[in-house]
Order: sequence, then structure tokens, then C-alpha cells
Amino acid sequence: MNLEDLKPEVIQICKEVGQFIREEAQAFDRSRIEFKHGFNNLVSYVDKEAEQKLVRHLKRLIPGSGFLAEEGTGSSSRNEFDWIIDPLDGTTNFMHGLPVFAISVGLAKHGKPVLGVVYEVNRNECFHATINNPAYCNDQPIRVSVVSQLNESLLATGFPYNYSDKKENYLEIIRLFLEQTHGIRRLGSAAIDLAYVACGRFEGFFEYNLNAWDVAAGALIVQQAGGRVTDFSGGNNFLHGGEIIAAGEVHSPMLELIKSQWFKKKA
Ligand code: IPD
Ligand code: CA
Ligand code: CA
Repeated sequence: MNLEDLKPEVIQICKEVGQFIREEAQAFDRSRIEFKHGFNNLVSYVDKEAEQKLVRHLKRLIPGSGFLAEEGTGSSSRNEFDWIIDPLDGTTNFMHGLPVFAISVGLAKHGKPVLGVVYEVNRNECFHATINNPAYCNDQPIRVSVVSQLNESLLATGFPYNYSDKKENYLEIIRLFLEQTHGIRRLGSAAIDLAYVACGRFEGFFEYNLNAWDVAAGALIVQQAGGRVTDFSGGNNFLHGGEIIAAGEVHSPMLELIKSQWFKKKA
């Protein structure tokens, strides 16, 4: 399997499905919002149809490949090749008319991501990488930021739909970063947050309660752009573990601060 030959086909599929999402965004009617688990976890026919279109086309590229996709295609059982897909990352933005959403398609070989495409639909920016090769935005090679100080950094994060008992720890981390950085952005799409770390727009990104489909493609793109991606302990369990820190040179101070707060017992 030549991943560099496969990648343009995956990009083309993402662009076609992106066109569908862009058209639906023009006339999206909020009465078509459905709820998954709770009042703030939204989904619509656009997410579901985009997923079906992606699956139909990607299946052709690698016969026998498996799927792990947000709107229900496939399962967590592992095949030689598995597509890990979020057909519309930034669903809440999409439904409120904010133009910040993306398609995220990762390909894992024996569970390890080897190809990633994040297509930011409204900017027509496609971030992509294969393992052991440079990362790109459209046809330009990209690198993570070389800024190494928190006080020169712009960070990104997300606020989980479902807060766990870690809420206080997380808010404290946000408070400390707000005091020590140029600021924190919450774009509403983890895939775009990661893509923007890969090209140096953000120095770093952290979030918890994410799923594999949010991060599989973007994390690989960050790594291939020279960045470091870990969980909150500094380990590698970020794909299925729900915690992620992705950054260029500020990864070390970010990890240090997050570690110092995340494992503290709160009353
Ligand atoms: C969400 C986005 C958001 C993140 C949430 C994700 P969705 O995905 O990536 O930035 O904070 O945790 O669930 O629901 O828009 O696909
Ligand atoms: Ca998502
Ligand atoms: Ca989604």
C-alpha cells in the first residue's frame, strides 16, 4: 500500500463531501437538529449523510478496510486498515451558522495512524500527512511553531459536552494558561485546532473527553509537522484515552502545568 499515492484520492473524496456540507450549510434549518446524549450534543442529517458518502468512497480505496466513525459506521474491532472518521467536526458551529467546521479522516494500520486529512470546508484548506513524510496545508509544507515560551504563545482548547469530576481541575488549568499566555481560543473543532497547531497558527492545543475520530488525523499531521502529541501524563494514550496535548516547542511547559493540576484531588 503506497500511502502517498492513496492520499490524493482521500483528499479528493473529502473535497467532494465538503462541497455537500457547504451547500447544506447555506440553507440549514435548525428544526433539523437532533440530540445524541443530552441537550448539547447535536447531530443532523448532514453529519449522517456526509459519513455515508465518505464511507462509500473510502471503502473502494482499500477493500476489506474497517471503520470507526462518529455517526455509527463500524466498530472498535481492529483490522489491518481502519478509517477513523469524523464526517463533520464542529457540528455545533455548523448548526449555528458559524463557518468553522471540518472533515477529519484518519487511516490506521494495525491501530496506528499512518495517514491523516483534515479538510476545513469553508476556507478550502486541506491539511494532510502520511507517516514519515512532511505535513502540508494544500500544497505547502507546514511546521509547528518554534516559540518555546508560554508567554509568547496562543493556545487552543475545547470545553467538553459532558463534564466529569475533572471539571474543577480543567478550569484551573484554563485559568493558569490565561494568566501566562497571549490567550486561549475555543474554535469548536478539535480537528481544526490540531491542524492550526501543525501550521503554527496556535502554539499548542489541549482538551479532554475527545474521541479517536476527533484526533486521529490531526494528531498525525501535528507529529509530521514536527510537533509532539501526548496524553496528560506525557504518555502515548491520546488516540483512545480522551486526553490530548499537541504542540510545538511549548509542549514541555504545557505538559508541566497540566500535570501539576490534573492529578490534584479537588474537594
Ligand atoms: C466536537 C468538537 C469540539 C470539541 C468536542 C467535540 P463535533 O466534535 O471537536 O471542538 O470540543 O469535544 O466533540 O461534535 O463537532 O464533531
Ligand atoms: Ca468531533
Ligand atoms: Ca462530528
